[in-house]
Amino acid sequence: MIRRATADDVDALEAMDRVCFPGDHPYGLWTWDRGVCWIAHHAGEAIGYSAAHPMKRGIWFFSRVGVMPAARGWGLQRKFLATLERHGRREGWREIVTYTVPLNGWSTRNILAAGYRTYEPKKSYVGYQVIHMRKKLA
Ligand SMILES: CC(C)(COP(=O)(O)OP(=O)(O)OC[C@H]1O[C@@H](n2cnc3c(N)ncnc32)[C@H](O)[C@@H]1OP(=O)(O)O)[C@@H](O)C(=O)NCCC(=O)NCCS
Repeated sequence: MIRRATADDVDALEAMDRVCFPGDHPYGLWTWDRGVCWIAHHAGEAIGYSAAHPMKRGIWFFSRVGVMPAARGWGLQRKFLATLERHGRREGWREIVTYTVPLNGWSTRNILAAGYRTYEPKKSYVGYQVIHMRKKLA
């Protein structure tokens, strides 16, 4: 079950983030006032999360997705992508952008399967050693 995360979920989100991105530093994932965040549960356990943040002019950045090891391979990332897109369309977002690193073939495959297309930005918001992808909603 996927639902919008609330401030009460911060501990669970951070615990999952440490597992899914070991050694990484969360970068504003929990800024509730600006971003949107979802959490998934199965059998009473938190099994995954995703987040997006506004950039400019109706463009949102799909900034984070993590699935706990025990729940990987269940198609949860694609469900998070569908949830994000439904929300974005309801809210009138123009476009969702995101990126993966070349070594993350699983995530890249899921994002492309959700209808995103790769593109080469004139100015990257993250650097050029990544695969930039976007999906226009309007
Ligand atoms: C990338 C990630 C979000 C994919 O989520 P997911 O919901 O498991 O995606 P899928 O269900 O499509 O599974 C992807 C692949 O995981 C692999 N997988 C399956 N079971 C697995 C398990 N128990 N443990 C690890 N990987 C497994 C499979 O190869 C599967 O591909 P397949 O369909 O060919 O079997 C997840 O692996 C993850 O959280 N990784 C760490 C954080 C990360 O990389 N986030 C994305 C940053 S861009």
